[in-house]
Amino acid sequence: MPESSTIRIDKLLDHPAVMDAIADVNLELKDRIAYQPPVCDVFKSEFTTLVTDPQYRFEIDKEAHRQLAHIIANTVQRVEGSDDATDEVKENYRKARNIGIVFSGGPSPGGHNVIAGLFDAAKKINPQTRVFGFLMGPDGIIDGDYMELTREQVDRYRNVGGFTMIKTGRTKIDDRKKMDLSRGTCKQLGLDALVVVGGDDSNTNAAFLAQNMFEDGVQVIGVPKTIDGDIQVRDAQGKVLCAMSFGFHTAARAFSQAIANLCTDASSDVKYWHMCKVMGRVASHLALEVALQTHANMTLIGEDLADYVDYARLEKAQKEGVVDYTAYGMTLRHLSRVTCDAIMERAAVGKNYGVLVLPEGVLEFINEIQVFIIKLNTIIGNYNKMHDRDFHTTFPSLDAKLEYLRRLVRGIRKDVSYNVWNARDDELFNDIPAFFQEGLLTERDSHGNFQFSQVKTEKVLLDLVKDYLGILKEKGHYKIGIQDAQFVKTLQKGGLDPELYGPILFENWKQARYLMIKKTIISKKTLKAVLVKAGFLGNDETIPPPIEKIFEQSVPKFKTQTHFYGYDGRGSDPTRFDCTYTYNLGQTVFSLIANGATGQMAAILNLEQDFNGWVPIGIPIAPLMHLEERKGKLELVLEKSVVDVNSPAFRVVKTFRDKWLAATPEEDHYRHPGPIRFTGNSEEDRPITLLLNALGNQLATPGTKAAE
Ligand code: FBP
Repeated sequence: MPESSTIRIDKLLDHPAVMDAIADVNLELKDRIAYQPPVCDVFKSEFTTLVTDPQYRFEIDKEAHRQLAHIIANTVQRVEGSDDATDEVKENYRKARNIGIVFSGGPSPGGHNVIAGLFDAAKKINPQTRVFGFLMGPDGIIDGDYMELTREQVDRYRNVGGFTMIKTGRTKIDDRKKMDLSRGTCKQLGLDALVVVGGDDSNTNAAFLAQNMFEDGVQVIGVPKTIDGDIQVRDAQGKVLCAMSFGFHTAARAFSQAIANLCTDASSDVKYWHMCKVMGRVASHLALEVALQTHANMTLIGEDLADYVDYARLEKAQKEGVVDYTAYGMTLRHLSRVTCDAIMERAAVGKNYGVLVLPEGVLEFINEIQVFIIKLNTIIGNYNKMHDRDFHTTFPSLDAKLEYLRRLVRGIRKDVSYNVWNARDDELFNDIPAFFQEGLLTERDSHGNFQFSQVKTEKVLLDLVKDYLGILKEKGHYKIGIQDAQFVKTLQKGGLDPELYGPILFENWKQARYLMIKKTIISKKTLKAVLVKAGFLGNDETIPPPIEKIFEQSVPKFKTQTHFYGYDGRGSDPTRFDCTYTYNLGQTVFSLIANGATGQMAAILNLEQDFNGWVPIGIPIAPLMHLEERKGKLELVLEKSVVDVNSPAFRVVKTFRDKWLAATPEEDHYRHPGPIRFTGNSEEDRPITLLLNALGNQLATPGTKAAE
């Protein structure tokens, strides 16, 4: 036994180098915590003011007008530096305030810096101002659970990922009781302002809180966050107000690093197809950014699949004088076919490996699945509204849930939902695998959203792909191409003449660098039959080993690995871009509060530009809201922004699709963004999607949209 293992553990632990090496706070963390993000010039002035920018206009929903009367007339406001405000304004700006802040929804890297930016700005102008963090998300407001944030706590989490400091939750303040309790907490704490850092649903909450607490004098400010990147705000004319929510860059970079590593591994041991699901339940922005960052062989973009039109089908229906609505959008079966084609194309040039990226929410863009999700959302929503016990408690097992659906069809349960689910739905639903049925029936989140992260989307697709590849293999279509030089070498080494065997074995002999074994040769038996027929082999003879070896090399094994990139990237430490973005959002929040705003969302214009071009603004939330079906009924919500298939970023990915699939004998085109780095100059400083979309708009000829 080496001598070191006999050393006494307490002696080892007494050594300062040991304690240093295993300390919770390492050098990277120390660097992060010490980093002071730059602030926009306006925040260098002692005071700021808000100036309405009249160029932005909105089409206001009647219902928003009715339900959010106090904040519906809000406008887009630019934050400007001001050193010459009146004494009254200065006094108001400087007054000691009580400010509450809450995280709502999934964590997003950079959240702690929103707190830090707000805390620093608030304490700088008046050290008496108190900042309270509500614990565990909106439940903290409802239940009155909070803590006063100290400088020491804020310092510990500067530039650090997660929402660890005050945690988060997904509760929605969506009924009178929760609203009254929240108002009670704010009053009891003497809050001047409440800051809600969250996604579309949480900012919807913020708007209703602003409306309800208007007369209490409690201002409410929202901060758009979500790694999914689906809060992108434009005015009615399409002018960008918030190009990207914070955390998106970090999550995309973290996923891309891991996926780029898989590309390296896949192209080294050349035996696996890696199926990588990335978060993004409604929109495919993260998958699009990962495609740009990694050049993975295949990236599915849900919005693109939904946009698909099967013209052959349409034409056929037209001839029959009918309209085939199923020709619009891609079916699951068709998607599996398209995926198989790509896999076969690569196999034909000897690449029986690759990396496929798919967004977590891809199934929502598939015709038949979307219908199931909508119907089941309605059924579950209706059930919960009508009964004391909720759907999942009443029907805990899959069998019980399926029986409930069956009873709806048979009319045994005269629930409000009995006409939502018909015999055809039941039949189709029973055709899908149990694990996927279970996925589709999982509990919705508190906002009524389908929880895509609970469904093994990649497995659903993979199972279909595996089945179909099996059929294609049987039919002799799915084979691995054999390099011509390798064929020649193998045969010559075995003393056989490649010129004799080549034409009878391959269908493209002398026509390509990668040779495809003839479709009719699908087994050793069929191989032998071909050799016998050509007179190269007697009936009793065995296949020559070099030929057998080549045949075996041409038979593909479809080996896969599935991965889910979600919570890991969501918990990553923020990129420098997200650190700076969020710190300035925090400062913007304080300017909005100190200038009396409410019902506004903090944002930064020109994120694609150099930092000097960034402009902090307040975006009115109420005018952005519209009616949408949630839990089976129409509700006022903020619209989610999905990938625009006409956007420059998507069109770039589409243009390079074939190149990145790399179904050619040449090398793959993988790109390695590397890890998120906090120091050095080689780190990409902002999302590629953001750059491309902004550049596309700039390059478009005047009067024409970049997308056209
Ligand atoms: P938000 O919309 O709250 O930002 O959350 C998005 C997300 O990160 C999705 O990408 C993912 O589907 C979901 O959270 C997972 O939710 P949960 O944390 O509840 O499992």
